Amino acid sequence: MQRLIMEEIREKYDYEPFADTEEYRQVNGYCIDSWVELMKRKGTDGIDAILDVATGAGTMVQIVFDYLPESWRKAAVMCLDQSGEALKLAQSKLEKTVDRLKLVHSSVEDMTLADNSIDIAVWGNGIHYLSEQDQLDSVKRIKIALKPGGFFFFNTAFYEEARPLETLPFYRTQVKTAVQYLRDRGVNRLKDDSRTEASKFLPRAYYEELVQQSGFKLVEAKEFAVDMKREAWEYISSFQQYAAGALRGHPVDEAVRAMREAVQPALELHGERDSDGNLYITRKWLAISSQV
Ligand SMILES: C[S@@+](CC[C@H](N)C(=O)[O-])C[C@H]1O[C@@H](n2cnc3c(N)ncnc32)[C@H](O)[C@@H]1O
Repeated sequence: MQRLIMEEIREKYDYEPFADTEEYRQVNGYCIDSWVELMKRKGTDGIDAILDVATGAGTMVQIVFDYLPESWRKAAVMCLDQSGEALKLAQSKLEKTVDRLKLVHSSVEDMTLADNSIDIAVWGNGIHYLSEQDQLDSVKRIKIALKPGGFFFFNTAFYEEARPLETLPFYRTQVKTAVQYLRDRGVNRLKDDSRTEASKFLPRAYYEELVQQSGFKLVEAKEFAVDMKREAWEYISSFQQYAAGALRGHPVDEAVRAMREAVQPALELHGERDSDGNLYITRKWLAISSQV
């Protein structure tokens, strides 16, 4: 049954609306700005090839190009994703910005890029989807594709410290409200309890160790906080994997609807207000920089 849920999830591409929110652009901008500054500090004065792992709608590449010094923007970009739909989206978004764009339809575990061919690899908001073993294999594979001195950067908002302690009641209320919503609609829990990868929150220390275990030098680990408002929470709650992880065992489409509906009641109970009166909950992003 769990396999059925995963198949249902794979068929739909649902990341783009969240990637277009102000909060997502802001926090990924903080991460990418820090990565570009780090490369400059380390004496990098140009790059030939960038690999964007799990490219999605190409958002990371768009932001990377916003922050790169002008003369570095001639770099070739390889966008890799296991979803053909994502690659089509990325192409339409990037073809005006990137002169030398190559799309690679593959999972990161199975990618076959030439050894020593990439200057920087970026893996935005996606490493947590993989099992620990697949992460290790993938990061090792990325290291082989990088040139000596090349950089590997990644970030995630799905790690143990991503949810500050004082925000945990928000998540509990959201799930409780969503379960009640499903019950009210007569939707029952179907099955097993096995966890999807996205519902596993590995700690910061694990990710610091992961790059080192894969043969990289850990250069920097930073955390950035972003105040996420209703719309962003509704989009993130609409990720099929997110909703399926939070409401394990329920039909995915119903779980998505319930998690979305439960955002506002949970925000009203636990959210803080910004200067415009908008309710928000703070979420943290982990950004790791490593070097061959
Ligand atoms: C949340 S999106 C992130 C997109 C983009 N990197 C960003 O930061 O906005 C996650 C992406 O990872 C892709 N993905 C998930 N597992 C993958 C894997 N094993 N290999 C390649 N791509 C994968 C999905 O298809 C999806 O496009």
